[in-house]
Amino acid sequence: MKILVLGSGAREHAIILSLLGENAGHSIVAAPGNAGIAGDVPVVALNATDSAAVVALAQAEAVDLVIIGPEAPLVAGVGDALRRAGFAVFGPDRAAAAIEGSKNFAKRIMSEANVPTGRAHRAGTLEEVAAALDDLGAPYVVKADGLAAGKGVLVTSDRAAALAHAQEYLGDGSILIEEFLDGQEVSLFFLSDGRTVLPLSPAQDFKRLLDADAGPNTGGMGAYSPLPWLDEHFGSERAFIDEVLHTVAEPVVRQLAAEGTPFVGLLYAGLILVDGGATIKVIEFNARFGDPETQIVLPRLLTPLSGLLLAAATGELHTQPRPEFSPLSAVTVVLASEGYPEAPITGRELHGLEAAGAVPGVHVTHAATALQEGTLFATGGRVLNVVSLGEGFAQARAGAYHALGLIELEGGQYRTDIAAKVAN
Ligand code: AMP
Ligand code: GLY
Repeated sequence: MKILVLGSGAREHAIILSLLGENAGHSIVAAPGNAGIAGDVPVVALNATDSAAVVALAQAEAVDLVIIGPEAPLVAGVGDALRRAGFAVFGPDRAAAAIEGSKNFAKRIMSEANVPTGRAHRAGTLEEVAAALDDLGAPYVVKADGLAAGKGVLVTSDRAAALAHAQEYLGDGSILIEEFLDGQEVSLFFLSDGRTVLPLSPAQDFKRLLDADAGPNTGGMGAYSPLPWLDEHFGSERAFIDEVLHTVAEPVVRQLAAEGTPFVGLLYAGLILVDGGATIKVIEFNARFGDPETQIVLPRLLTPLSGLLLAAATGELHTQPRPEFSPLSAVTVVLASEGYPEAPITGRELHGLEAAGAVPGVHVTHAATALQEGTLFATGGRVLNVVSLGEGFAQARAGAYHALGLIELEGGQYRTDIAAKVAN
């Protein structure tokens, strides 16, 4: 199959490695990619949110399938433009991508579809914000309505900070004040062709910068999969997945279809398990694969990814088996630049990736790298992911942290406690 993958992060690198790992002779092109991706497949420089440029590339390459990695092109309508031009696209149209692009839209869909989520108030003025904060109480959860590159959500017990955050985003439209939900977070991905929904395997993301969940929220500093502690309240991982499938993913996909905006692509359910872990609540939806969860979910996927994504893109998901996963434990740790997330210092040299990738069970996916005259440089906040698979989390963690110790990046930062609580 000839496949175009749009995006430039470690998530897209993971998708490409998974497609190449099928050994099915796929011809893959990535746009714009990064230095790591360019080491594996041809890359084309282009702005992934520029619909005309993307359609022109898909035509020039005569691709059979386009996989849209990040949210920005989806919300910009790149999926719509590709479909109008006749391409099979994995990634929703702009209207359905609003499930991620607008928190208020997502709340309305959840309410129509009876999906369990926190209580929330929509506020359009500072007075309404204040009333909502006082109604729901501390800790306060304040969410910007639109895409905010991971900076839109503030969780704080400081009422003045909550008001200030609300004020910052009120100019862009209304914002959402939500009930604070206390519990373990789970990311669960679903493939959808607009009708049929198939689940992948659950993962946990570490959103905070520092060990023990201290420091600011980030795009994600690490992740692991599967989640052995799900058995305690749900009996088995399968039972948990089925509950989320039937009470969250299927109702949302049905609702979007009923409204004439079918969801074709990956529905990412961001969940918090409240009541000591027994009750599932949705905190957000994303309209694409999660980053960094994809880096550890896809290496465990045994069913060929290309067949699943093509079937989703062409309305044929009912012909596919439920995806199967290896029982191996997978851990990923993000290496970030000094100053991330506020003001990452970029342009520093990176060394030791070959040695890191040679550690048994370990590979490296690139997030923000460039190659200049044979030297690799870090070009962004999250630079790369070390991904490690093992028999159990102790082994997977040992591999990941051994490999990280072999990588040199001045000022580089990473968490040391990814998957620590499940390693014994
Ligand atoms: P989001 O962008 O919606 O994923 O929110 C970013 C992070 O904020 C989540 O991963 C949670 O850690 C936290 N968060 C969001 N909503 C809530 C909530 N209602 N209660 C507690 N934490 C939340
Ligand atoms: N891992 C969080 C996200 O992809 O949004």
